Amino acid sequence: MNKDNNMQWLALEHTVIAVTGAGSGIGAAVARGLLEAGASVAMLDVNTDGCDSLLATLGELAAEALVIPCDVSSEASVQQAAARINERFGHLNGLANCAGILRPGALLDVSLDDWNQVLQVNLTGSMLCARAFAPLMGNGGSLVFIASVAALMPQTNSGAYSASKSAVTLMSRQLAVELGNRQIRSNVICPGMIRTALSEPFYAHPGITEAREAMTASGRIGMPSDIANATLFLLSDKSSYINGTEVVVDGGLDNMLMHLIPRPGYSASNN
Ligand SMILES: NC(=O)c1ccc[n+]([C@@H]2O[C@H](COP(=O)([O-])OP(=O)(O)OC[C@H]3O[C@@H](n4cnc5c(N)ncnc54)[C@H](O)[C@@H]3O)[C@@H](O)[C@H]2O)c1
Repeated sequence: MNKDNNMQWLALEHTVIAVTGAGSGIGAAVARGLLEAGASVAMLDVNTDGCDSLLATLGELAAEALVIPCDVSSEASVQQAAARINERFGHLNGLANCAGILRPGALLDVSLDDWNQVLQVNLTGSMLCARAFAPLMGNGGSLVFIASVAALMPQTNSGAYSASKSAVTLMSRQLAVELGNRQIRSNVICPGMIRTALSEPFYAHPGITEAREAMTASGRIGMPSDIANATLFLLSDKSSYINGTEVVVDGGLDNMLMHLIPRPGYSASNN
């Protein structure tokens, strides 16, 4: 696998980026995109086999990656990862925080263990990574947190998921202000429906893909590369005046509510 010359405009070549959750789905697509753009990548995950499998497909680009076993919900584990990044690269230019989990459960009966675990990985893990890795950025860098459209609207029967993602967006805005004088930006991406290991069980059910496609303006389910493209842009200096905000990448899902209301006599002929 060679570098992708189309990505040169982002000027990510020779930057060093940490990616959490790099062993699967969105994190793996971000790691791949960064390596193709010429960056060095610290790939953090509890699932290092996933990281190794990705690197096995990338040929010589894999030499620019460092796989680090890391549980983002553990402060000690995150600090060890920061020490290894410092040892190997000496600095960081950015963090793509992609690690995340989803557990089912309505709020009245979700187990406290599941509630706490989701908050610990999705919210506390994001904070632990920000505060371990931002110091390696010196005066200039970019933090990108993968939240969800569930940060903006309640995702029912998913326990603490919406609460965790909504909290990540405010945490990111706070970081943008607190780190602003060091020229470190912080932004959130809110993906809609993206096909990854996390969501794959849904698509195993007959008719789900088509039903979900019909709920997006773009008429398709998102791919991990759709989120990776937005993440690379936010990591790059090309987005240098975008700070403390949320970028929704959902194929127009969040604009569909009025369209999905049955309204006899008001349907377009092509719907
Ligand atoms: N897939 C979607 O439709 C979708 C939609 C919106 C938001 N998201 C968010 O995108 C992010 C990536 O999700 P994905 O769909 O790629 O899922 P995924 O399950 O394919 O990948 C998540 C990765 O995070 C890793 N991980 C989980 N817990 C960890 C921990 N404690 N420490 C380190 N790594 C850990 C997993 O091992 C896995 O490799 C998540 O934050 C998820 O909430 C996904």
